[in-house]
Amino acid sequence: MASPLADPVKLPCGLILPNRLSKAAMAERLAKRNRPTKSINNAYEQWSKGGWGCILTGNIQVDVNHLGDRFDLALQDEHTKDERLLAEWKTYAAVCQRYGTPAIAQICHPGRQSMRRAGRRGVFASTIAPSAVPMNVGNRLRDRITSQVIWSKPREMTRADIEDAIGRFVNTARVMSDAGFSGVELHGAHGYLIDQFMGSMTNRRTDEYGGSPERRARLVLDILTRIRKVVPKTFCIGIKLNSADHSTADFGEIMIQIKLLVDAGLDFMEISGGSYEDPRMVGYPVTINVPKSESAAAREAFFFEFARTVRAQHPSLVLMLTGGFRTRAGMEAAIRDNACDLVGIGRPATVDPKFPLLLLDEKIAGENAALPLKMVPLPFYATILPRNLVGAGAETDFPYIEIMFKSIRIQGRFMYDRQHVQRLIQMAGSGLLPLGKKAGVTQTEVFGLEQADGALEAVSKLSGWGSHVVLKP
Ligand SMILES: Cc1cc2nc3c(=O)[nH]c(=O)nc-3n(C[C@H](O)[C@H](O)[C@H](O)COP(=O)(O)O)c2cc1C
Repeated sequence: MASPLADPVKLPCGLILPNRLSKAAMAERLAKRNRPTKSINNAYEQWSKGGWGCILTGNIQVDVNHLGDRFDLALQDEHTKDERLLAEWKTYAAVCQRYGTPAIAQICHPGRQSMRRAGRRGVFASTIAPSAVPMNVGNRLRDRITSQVIWSKPREMTRADIEDAIGRFVNTARVMSDAGFSGVELHGAHGYLIDQFMGSMTNRRTDEYGGSPERRARLVLDILTRIRKVVPKTFCIGIKLNSADHSTADFGEIMIQIKLLVDAGLDFMEISGGSYEDPRMVGYPVTINVPKSESAAAREAFFFEFARTVRAQHPSLVLMLTGGFRTRAGMEAAIRDNACDLVGIGRPATVDPKFPLLLLDEKIAGENAALPLKMVPLPFYATILPRNLVGAGAETDFPYIEIMFKSIRIQGRFMYDRQHVQRLIQMAGSGLLPLGKKAGVTQTEVFGLEQADGALEAVSKLSGWGSHVVLKP
C-alpha cells in the first residue's frame, strides 16, 4: 500500500505540495553579508533535489538592524530598490524550486532575542520588544551574567516601532512574492517578536496590542491582513506557532488566538514549541511534560497532543507538525492519527538532504526508513553555561570549537587528521551540527578535509549542510 506520506496536499491558496514531507526552517548562518549568495544557494540546491513536498527556508529577518544571528539572511531597505539585489532573491527562490518543490520563505523578527552584534544597530543598542522584559536563561548568577553578555535589555516598542515592524513584514512578504517564492511563513514561534506579542509573560502592554489574548494577537493579525493586500491570491501565507501544555493557563489563550488566525485566513499552520529561554523545539529538556498516548507518532513527535487538539477544533486547517520525527512509521502514524497533514523535518534534513526519497521508496522496508540521530556528548566547559542555552543548539558549537583547537595544537595549522574527521562525522551524524558552522569553514579547512582520505565523501554523505564541502570535490 502506498504511504500516506506520498499524498499531495492542496492549500487554500491553490498551491499543491507534491507530498506531505516538509523540510523545516533552519537558520543556515551562511549569509556573511545577510544576502542570499552562493553558499545559501549551494545548500538549497541539495534540498531541491531531495524529493520534498515543501521547502521552508531558514528564517529571513525582516529588519537588518535586528537579526537573530549575525549571519542570518535579512531584507535590507536597498533590496527593494536595487534590481541587482532583487535578482539574488530571485536566484535563491529559483534554486529551491528547480525540481518542482514549492519553497516557502520563513520571515521573522527576533525582537528581544536578537543577540548583541546581530544586526546593524550596534553592540550596545537595545533590542525592541512588546515590553521591556529582559532575557532570562536561568536564575543562577552565571545564567544572569550570560544573559546580559549575550542580549541587551529590550526597550518597549512605541506605536511607531510597531507600525515599522508591521511594514517590514509586509514589505518582506511582497519581495519574496516578487522573487518567486510560493509563499511565506510568519515565524510566530520560538520566542521571536510575534510570539513575544502573543504571550502574557513577554507582553505586558496596556494599549490595543496587549492586555487580553485577543489584543496580544493584534500584531500578527495586522501583519497577516496587510500582507494579503499586497500579494497575489495564489501566494501562500502560513504561520509557525508554539504549542502550550494543556495544564497551563496559556493553553486556553493560545486556542483563542489560533481561532482568530484561522478566521483571518491561513494556508497552513505549523506547530512547534519553545524559545531560547526554554528550547523545547529541539526536544530539550528531553522529557517534555505533555500527556502522551501510546501511538507511535506520540512517542516520536514532541508536540503531537497539541496538534491533535488544534485539529479537533479546526478540522479544515492544514496543519504541519514539526519536531522529533525520525521514522516513516512515526510520520505515517501522525497522519493516520489525524494529528497533521504535513510532517516538518529539521535536523534529519541536514544529515540527509534527500531523506524523502528514502521515506517514499516502497522498496525500503519499514525499519530501514528512518534516520535516528544521536546526541553529541558535551565537553566539560559546556556544562558551565546555562543548560537551556546549551540545549538550544549552542551545544553543537562546542565539539566544533574543540576540533579547531585540536587542529591548531596538534598540526600547527587548520587541517583535520583522521580522528578529527571522525569527530566531525559524529557531529554531523547527530544532526545537531548547526548548518551555520559551515560559514566558518574556510577553503583551507575544506582542503584539509580533502586530504583526509575519503573522509570528504563520508562527511558530505552524512551532512546535508555539508553541501559546501561537497561542492569542492
Ligand atoms: C540549526 C537549527 C536552526 C533552526 N532554525 C530555525 C529557524 O530559522 N526557524 C524555525 O522556525 N525553526 C528553526 N529551527 C527549529 C526547526 O525548524 C525544528 O522546529 C526543530 O529542529 C525540531 O525539528 P527536528 O526534531 O526535526 O529537528 C532550527 C533548528 C536547528 C537545529
